[in-house]
Amino acid sequence: MKLQGKVALVTGGATGLGNAFVQRLLADGARVAIGDLRGAHDAARAHDTTGSRCLGVAMDVADEASVKAAVQTVEAGLGGIDILINNAALFSTLVNRPFEEYSADEWMQVMRVNTLGPFNCAKAVAPHMKAQRWGRIINVASTSALKGLANMAHYVTSKGAVITFTRVLARELGAWNITANALAPGLTLSDQILKNDDHMAKFGEAIRKSRSIQRDALPADLVGTVSFLASDDAAFMTGQTLCVEGGAIFV
Ligand SMILES: NC(=O)c1ccc[n+]([C@@H]2O[C@H](COP(=O)([O-])OP(=O)(O)OC[C@H]3O[C@@H](n4cnc5c(N)ncnc54)[C@H](O)[C@@H]3O)[C@@H](O)[C@H]2O)c1
Repeated sequence: MKLQGKVALVTGGATGLGNAFVQRLLADGARVAIGDLRGAHDAARAHDTTGSRCLGVAMDVADEASVKAAVQTVEAGLGGIDILINNAALFSTLVNRPFEEYSADEWMQVMRVNTLGPFNCAKAVAPHMKAQRWGRIINVASTSALKGLANMAHYVTSKGAVITFTRVLARELGAWNITANALAPGLTLSDQILKNDDHMAKFGEAIRKSRSIQRDALPADLVGTVSFLASDDAAFMTGQTLCVEGGAIFV
């Protein structure tokens, strides 16, 4: 129970990879808040009917007021947030196109959720982490940013920003014993991405073949890295990007 006594907030934790992170953090002994645009309460109840170990909170990561209110709710319900998993993003519902075919609105919508979201959440949890001189921020990036994957320019660029923001957070928060690291998965078969036929058809086979370990990635392949980064075992690691994609790229 290496995270006993800790409280984690997982944004976008109602479904997909986020929900797998919630399950693992609970198994590690943490109390966990699921923050999501929709489905947070039901998802939390599925893990814990008492509400004492897992709490659902409705939040829009792109809206600063909503984030502040959600963080206050979690602090009141479970105690201060020790571990933030910035997982919420626009991803599985996106349509793949050459960059010139995206509108400025589409670009900004992805940037708002995928870059302003982690900024809003880090800003809201930092005061408590600083006060206790301990904190873990784990930003979910993507190996697509390191590969420069074609036909998802807004998303890939947003994940590049997440990696850069992680490095800045590491520099600015290290003095308070707060670490910030990025987890970069490759295409991983979460429930929602499996419904995106276009994405699977365009990328699925090529991505499998690009890996040293040539198979599909599952949410279970990622949870150990989150568990490690959240723990004291990773106390001296910060500003790093951990690529968990079966050796598709080496950094
Ligand atoms: N699945 C993959 O192949 C893959 C690969 C690399 C990186 N990632 C990253 O992993 C994370 C999770 O991916 P996923 O496949 O589970 O995605 P998903 O689309 O299935 O889930 C995203 C979750 O975020 C929530 N969300 C969206 N906008 C939100 C907002 N404004 N405020 C709060 N919650 C919001 C959604 O409701 C959903 O529950 C994302 O950051 C994604 O970019 C996924």
